[in-house]
Amino acid sequence: MRRFRIGILGCGYISNTYISDIQTFYKDLKIAACADLVPEVAMAQADKYGIAKSCTPDELLADDSIDIIVNLTPPDMHPEVNRKIIAAGKHLFCEKPFAPSLEEARQVLDMADRKGVRVGCAPDTFLSSGLQSMRFYLDSGIIGKPFFVAANMTNFGVETWHPNPFPYYTDHAGPMFDMAPYYLSAIISLLGPIESVAAFSAMPSGTRHVYTGPRAGADIETSIPTHFSSILRLRNGVIVSMNMSFDIYRSDLPALEICGTDGTLSYPDPNFGGGTPKVYRKEQYTGTVYQQTEAAEARREKFYELPELYARVKDYSRGLGVLELADAIRTGRRNRTGADLILHITEAIEAVRASAENGGFYTMQTTCERPEAIPPGVQADKFR
Ligand SMILES: NC(=O)c1ccc[n+]([C@@H]2O[C@H](COP(=O)([O-])OP(=O)(O)OC[C@H]3O[C@@H](n4cnc5c(N)ncnc54)[C@H](O)[C@@H]3O)[C@@H](O)[C@H]2O)c1
Repeated sequence: MRRFRIGILGCGYISNTYISDIQTFYKDLKIAACADLVPEVAMAQADKYGIAKSCTPDELLADDSIDIIVNLTPPDMHPEVNRKIIAAGKHLFCEKPFAPSLEEARQVLDMADRKGVRVGCAPDTFLSSGLQSMRFYLDSGIIGKPFFVAANMTNFGVETWHPNPFPYYTDHAGPMFDMAPYYLSAIISLLGPIESVAAFSAMPSGTRHVYTGPRAGADIETSIPTHFSSILRLRNGVIVSMNMSFDIYRSDLPALEICGTDGTLSYPDPNFGGGTPKVYRKEQYTGTVYQQTEAAEARREKFYELPELYARVKDYSRGLGVLELADAIRTGRRNRTGADLILHITEAIEAVRASAENGGFYTMQTTCERPEAIPPGVQADKFR
């Protein structure tokens, strides 16, 4: 079987994870070339990972041997670069966020439709072992009927570890664009689409100090909100409390908990595909009614780990979505990270920001199906 030939466009920080994970785990894909605006950066990645060709972005777009281009440029470049990839007739997998607005996402996706190329977009973490296992357990009824989700991304921004934190504090950036896609894609995959949104935002500090990288010691003055607290109501009636923050040093808020009529399911971090789901069942709580023993009391206090039902590729991994897109192209099915999900996630980000800015509830215009589940036991690099 012919391997899909992948071109990496943008050879910065996350390209390391994409390239090494694809090379290590996904043998149906071959990274055939890499390109960057800065030629030395592309050359260095080609050297480091033994990629046969490093070139300019235009040379990559003109390379007839490339099937899929993975867009790993900074967020504000995504629409422009995506348009070029589509115009070149290549299938596209883009890092998140896909676009700064629903309107712009639509334009790019319409262009892809007209051109007859496929589009996928990160996050792909919802396809991986931990979150697909969560979905299996949830769908099996392990916590009864879900009614509430707590989703909390609490960290202190990227300026303590990213060599170039500046783009994270520009207009169409901040925690909603950078991190909410992981949580939104997980929630939509687990529970379905969003119906309406209400939100508030805050900017506890307009000055962000840069701790690392070539501009360590500088300050970033920003006017964008860096903390969002929102309530989403899903179409199935489930209520989600979602907090996305670049202003919290440490918190014990759960990253993802789903509460149902018969218990609670929890997941360590939707940004990570490898993660062990945990469950708390109602019997643990009611058990002490019948047995007032130390063992029953102890059971009442804790969550229990559930096995992952797929092989865990790695805790923090990237590239599965590229493989899933290639598999969809090969088999002629729709890819799970495609247009409907992209539009719905893009609108959800817009909805939180709009409600926080203007007040009131935002009613979603877009919707989508839950991306198809992967049957348990399927190999980590297969989808059927
Ligand atoms: N850093 C992470 O941990 C992380 C994790 C997941 C996803 N992402 C996403 O991946 C994308 C890239 O993030 P990063 O952290 O690697 O950024 P980065 O700033 O480290 O790297 C971006 C690279 O793209 C190049 N570039 C800029 N404009 C270009 C253009 N027009 N054509 C070709 N190359 C261009 C830059 O020279 C740079 O080398 C972003 O969308 C980000 O949200 C990042």
